[in-house]
Amino acid sequence: MVAEVQGIVSLEKGAPVSLETMLVPDPGPGEARVAVKACGVCHTDLHYREGGITDDYPFFLGHEAAGIVESVGPDVTKIAPGDFVILNWRAICGDCRACDRGRPWYCFATHNATQKMSLADGTELSPALGIGAFAELTLVAAGQATKVDSRARPEAAGLLGCGVMAGIGAAINTGGVGRGDSVAVIGCGGVGSGSIVGSALAGAGTIIAVDIDDRKLEWAEGFGATHTINSRNEDPVERIREITGGNGADVVVEAIGLPETYEQAFYARDLAGVVVLVGVPTPDMKIELPFIEVFGRGGALKSSWYGDCLPERDFPMLIDLYLQGRLDLDGFVSETIGVGEVEDAFHRMERGEVLRSVVVFD
Ligand code: APR
Ligand code: ZN
Ligand code: ZN
Repeated sequence: MVAEVQGIVSLEKGAPVSLETMLVPDPGPGEARVAVKACGVCHTDLHYREGGITDDYPFFLGHEAAGIVESVGPDVTKIAPGDFVILNWRAICGDCRACDRGRPWYCFATHNATQKMSLADGTELSPALGIGAFAELTLVAAGQATKVDSRARPEAAGLLGCGVMAGIGAAINTGGVGRGDSVAVIGCGGVGSGSIVGSALAGAGTIIAVDIDDRKLEWAEGFGATHTINSRNEDPVERIREITGGNGADVVVEAIGLPETYEQAFYARDLAGVVVLVGVPTPDMKIELPFIEVFGRGGALKSSWYGDCLPERDFPMLIDLYLQGRLDLDGFVSETIGVGEVEDAFHRMERGEVLRSVVVFD
């Protein structure tokens, strides 16, 4: 039966989001309906509201979510009603040129639900990142729901669905951080802090956190940073070189998406080191680098989409580490809020007061 729920919708560009009645169809073939337990507030939700992604209003916001499978379509085999799942936006197709080449984390044809959720008057909703989860029920492609250990706290687990995974993966999957490496992370919001915990998990010897906000640097230490740099007060490139014996870091993660911090990342890495860009630039931005340095410094300049993660491989593993007390996901949950408080949470996020506000449903 079609379910009627209340969810957070962005109706028009720039306007505050609102709680609207919406209709969620029964799952069809390849689909699952999930009772959302918790959903984090992410910058991407705000970008949708501001028209920074597409103009396909109205958007059903929310995408960093964990919940319980309520029902599944006829041919769904990997998940079943009652399973505790984390939602993802990389349900791989298994059939595109990336998947065929054995690199499914680049999948170019990821699955979303085929049926549309809608407003009460029938207007189709565009779900944020193909998910939409600021509501007590949502419809996704079955591959977008990854089963994990149900003992994990939903508020913390859901955050693996987007920003925190992007950060952890940027360090481990894209940057290849390993035992004893030196890592610098520029920008310590939810994503950059993910790179810090990821680097600690991978055994990095030196983890340097760079930000312009002392609160973020303090949190970064809690996540495992061995050194912090407030780049308002000191030159981060020089300081990173100093900390790493004059050489620069093996891996530098840029987790903001600005040309000037990308440039810092470029110069703060050691010869043959790796720069990972996980921050998302805007279309008008440009970078200018001395071409000879691009060659002469060797190594790799990489981008990290969603931390090059594979939800089925990474989510259960990271949740197990979380349950063993080896991965601090709770530290990312700055506050839990009701579904009606998303607009306020956007403002707290803009002011940098939180790593993540998380909407919880009982
Ligand atoms: N130098 C250093 N740090 C900076 C600078 C700067 N010039 N400008 C901003 N910062 C810091 C902020 O103080 C903040 O702590 O960068 C951090 C950015 O964090 P958030 O705004 O919380 O963003 P986050 O959710 O971590 O996402 C970061 O990754 O996935 C992308 O779209 C996302 O581009 C965004 C980036
Ligand atoms: Zn594919
Ligand atoms: Zn997100």
